[in-house]
Amino acid sequence: MNRDARILSGIQPTGKLHLGNYLGALKNWVALQDEFPHACYYCIVDLHAITAPYDPKELKTNVFDTALDFLAAGLDPDKAAIFIQSQVSEHSELAWLLNTITPIGMLERMTQYKDKKKKHVDHINAGLLNYPVLMAADILLYKATMVPVGDDQVQHLELTREIARKFNHSFGDVFPEPEPRLTRGARIMSLLAPDNKMSKSDTEKSYITLDEDPERIKNKLKKAVTDAGTSGELGPGAKNLLTIMEVVDPDAADRFAKDATEGQIRYSDLKMHLADKLGEYFAPFRERRRELAARPDTVWELLLDGTQQARRIASATFKEAKEKMGFI
Ligand code: TYM
Repeated sequence: MNRDARILSGIQPTGKLHLGNYLGALKNWVALQDEFPHACYYCIVDLHAITAPYDPKELKTNVFDTALDFLAAGLDPDKAAIFIQSQVSEHSELAWLLNTITPIGMLERMTQYKDKKKKHVDHINAGLLNYPVLMAADILLYKATMVPVGDDQVQHLELTREIARKFNHSFGDVFPEPEPRLTRGARIMSLLAPDNKMSKSDTEKSYITLDEDPERIKNKLKKAVTDAGTSGELGPGAKNLLTIMEVVDPDAADRFAKDATEGQIRYSDLKMHLADKLGEYFAPFRERRRELAARPDTVWELLLDGTQQARRIASATFKEAKEKMGFI
């Protein structure tokens, strides 16, 4: 076991989390807190969330909802620090310092920036461009060695490594170069447009939230696109449903995959079986979430406690980086 491992990851508070967030990231976070207790830092990245149009009245509720999802999914505040990014001011401060060593050209080449620029034509702000620098600051402040994310974040991780290298080279060694940690569900696709990743910014019918009511799961899956692929292969929609099935019922996933190779697969059976299994799989999650929602004070206290743990590490690293850069 790597005793020096330090894990950091973050999720934007933009509403309830969906299956992509869970299978690509959160499920892995829970496994890592058990593998590396007291070495995991999990962050609700509210400063990132404001780079897209948002309603200030909803920000706090969204942070709370994300915290509920974290805890209901099994994150344990006794093993991992769970905190709110904006409550640890060193994130913004280090981001500023790192901005000064990050070439604009690299930021302009980021796929997510290019996609968001197309999506929010009336809201192309500097924060959107600098988003990956803030993400680098999130990671480097904790000297993280491992970052559990979905595959859409891998390019940002590469940039983080470049920034770390450049900083160490220019000012002296401070930051380790973090590695991404991906799962098999690193790219869960939209139910309605399975060539695109599942995303909260699409229509509600294209994703399943973790607390989704079983009847709604059924209705959404009924309408999921499962067009046949070329040359007898499974299409991207059916492949995506099988990837999800591998988590909730691996034996059934094998069975349906076998049916598919024999040309016997019935998509309606696949969908209904998956709906039942997803409903069962997330039943304890829904129950825990309901219980926690009834105890908001406990949830805010846990976040405060996590924030204090995060601050201790963040302030020490920030001091070190600032001194290396010549500040008093
Ligand atoms: P965000 O909030 O968009 O997504 C949170 C996590 O969920 C993963 N994810 C997916 N995985 C598989 N399939 C999908 N369809 C899918 N959609 C989302 C994302 O890869 C991510 O791991 N920039 C980050 C947040 C962030 C961060 C960080 C992450 C800020 N600072 C520091 C790691 C470390 C983001 O936008 O995630």
